[in-house]
Amino acid sequence: MNNEELFQASKEVLVGGVNSPVRAISPYPFFVERSEGARLYDAEGKSYIDYCLAFGPMILGHNNPTVRKAVEERLSNGWCFGTPTEAELEYASLITSTVPNVDKIRCMNTGTEATMTAIRLARGFTGRDKIIKIEGAFHGAHDAVLVKAGSGALTHSVPNSKGIPADVTKNTLLIPYNDLEALERVLKENEGQIAAMITEPAIGNAGCILPKENYLKDAKKILEAHNSLLILDEVITGFRLGQGGAQEYFGVDADIVTMGKIISGGFPIGVMGARHEIMDNITPMGQVYNAGTFNGHPVSIAAGLATLNLIKSTDALSRIADAGNKLQNGLRGILQDMSLNYQVQGIGPMFQVFFNDNPVTDLDEAKNSDDKKFLDYCAKLRDLGVFLPPSQFECCFTSIAHDQEVIDTSLEAFETALKATH
Ligand SMILES: Cc1ncc(COP(=O)(O)O)c(C=O)c1O
Repeated sequence: MNNEELFQASKEVLVGGVNSPVRAISPYPFFVERSEGARLYDAEGKSYIDYCLAFGPMILGHNNPTVRKAVEERLSNGWCFGTPTEAELEYASLITSTVPNVDKIRCMNTGTEATMTAIRLARGFTGRDKIIKIEGAFHGAHDAVLVKAGSGALTHSVPNSKGIPADVTKNTLLIPYNDLEALERVLKENEGQIAAMITEPAIGNAGCILPKENYLKDAKKILEAHNSLLILDEVITGFRLGQGGAQEYFGVDADIVTMGKIISGGFPIGVMGARHEIMDNITPMGQVYNAGTFNGHPVSIAAGLATLNLIKSTDALSRIADAGNKLQNGLRGILQDMSLNYQVQGIGPMFQVFFNDNPVTDLDEAKNSDDKKFLDYCAKLRDLGVFLPPSQFECCFTSIAHDQEVIDTSLEAFETALKATH
């Protein structure tokens, strides 16, 4: 079957033909059969240079041989035990010795679980019910955070999901990103009731929006003054902006950190970590409940160890940053030559072009972008064999397989696609 036929058949048995809404590309998605390095190969044998990277995890490139070997070795000795394994100790030691303010971790299966549990932990630790969430940030698909959410929720116009009791979301207070006055005001209006603010350090789920200078540091100070915690959702930025993630990159100290995506090299994982006194409130030591049949799954841990060891022992992170910077600079040059004032926003390995004449600093400004034209640009790029995350409200990522040849080919395609759609 070709891509279109596969999609028609899938729609009969999968909701919207997909298992996650971000994959529902119009008029139909391409169905991947295999992947290698910087490229995906679809059911029709067509190849695509990939800037979606499975929405973030695949920074070592697809089908990385080191990760594959680690998984194969794990599989040959069994893969699911319901008991602790030594590899989990090694994995936790690696993360706690690398990520600031993280003495202990709990491994789960998705970033969604990690942020859900981080919020529960913040509430359990502080004895307070309310949380502050940033408009346009995305922290997974659970009730407390599906309010003005980014990513697919924004793309498909359901930032506030149906099916969530108002009683739940009344405890989620919204503020714009990069707005310290709003933070201060909400904390004062709800004195003694805010457990934590949860945010992505740089928002990668409403395009790519960067923090203003010192925003994160100052937000942390303000939260501290009200005895509220900072939950830094590093599911995108962890082990991408540096080994110490956004905490290291922006010089901010988080109280609770969540990670996912990269840290298991493309297998399911979500990790939450914090200092001892906070983490020890989690079961079995404390009374904030977390459990999971697949928590710390041996295959994810094996892939994660291989990935993190490669990141630690090679120049992988500077390579992905270098590739991202070359692409961003190349794009700026193309846009300038075409007299287009669009915004190329990003930090090294994560970036987005906003089809917007003004810099984007929060959700409202992101929504002013020309999403329709952006989707035409994405479609043209797919024709040319380049795959971008198919929404203005997502972020492009680079891997170590994005070498000079891939970058040059991509920039040519970007230029052709821009010219074809403008
Ligand atoms: C910042 C952030 N947090 C949490 C999540 C949820 O992670 P998962 O899809 O693994 O549940 C995502 C997913 O895109 C994310 O980008």
